[in-house]
Amino acid sequence: MTEVIIVPSPAAGGVLVAEAIVALVRRRADAVLGLATGSSPLPVYTALRPHAALLRDVRGFALDEYVGLPAGHPESYRAVIEREVVVPLGLDPARVRVPGDDLAEGLGYEASLADAGDRYEAAIAAAGGVDLQLLGIGATGHIGFNEPGSSFASRTRVKTLTEQTRRDNARFFAAPDEVPLHCITQGLGTILAARHLVLLAFGAAKAAALAAAVEGPVTSSLPGSAIQLHGRVTVVVDEAAASALRFADYYRHAWVHKPAWQGL
Ligand code: GLP
Repeated sequence: MTEVIIVPSPAAGGVLVAEAIVALVRRRADAVLGLATGSSPLPVYTALRPHAALLRDVRGFALDEYVGLPAGHPESYRAVIEREVVVPLGLDPARVRVPGDDLAEGLGYEASLADAGDRYEAAIAAAGGVDLQLLGIGATGHIGFNEPGSSFASRTRVKTLTEQTRRDNARFFAAPDEVPLHCITQGLGTILAARHLVLLAFGAAKAAALAAAVEGPVTSSLPGSAIQLHGRVTVVVDEAAASALRFADYYRHAWVHKPAWQGL
């Protein structure tokens, strides 16, 4: 089922999701987290900071990475994950993987990229799969970097970014042209294989894509709609991001009356 929880603020959403992660890690100290970049999951990472001691043995797999940035570029998702997740939460860097990070020569070299996705899939499988996958959603409806047209069966592979996504992400770079053309991303099939999906969206700019993902037709033209095929999805949104949801009143009603024993 897809559970939609409308929270008063991103910070409140972060606390809620952090509590679910803490509960998971108390059950299994080396739980496997699917980590997302972008602004949406940041409140979760912030709310996890007081629990850092608990997270020592946690393993992590990032959703995606740019292709073609120089190694160590501050906007590479490896660097972002280090800065925003690994360091503040005291995770073991060796236990946190980002697609393509096993390429000593970096992600600019086509020959080595060809099977980077397969190796990443193998690493996720060897870890026993992802327990809880954090997700944001882009304006094009993408999750990870799965742009419109991505197959629901897709696995980690190299993709071409849409110009819309490059524009959206240009704010992190000195010039729009510096945003890479390509990325390597977990596929929709990879994401759907995680045991629990947690999608976060905040702000009015996300309302249309979020409503389409949660309530629209299931279509690869709106990759986020793939979540409707998963058996356990938690969608955490603020009022602005929830503003285009048709069944918002029902989601509020269901949340208020949720049996306490059910958890997230
Ligand atoms: C990027 C990332 C996505 C993320 C999206 C939305 O394109 N590859 O994983 O979900 O941006 O980002 P934000 O949460 O900053 O709006």
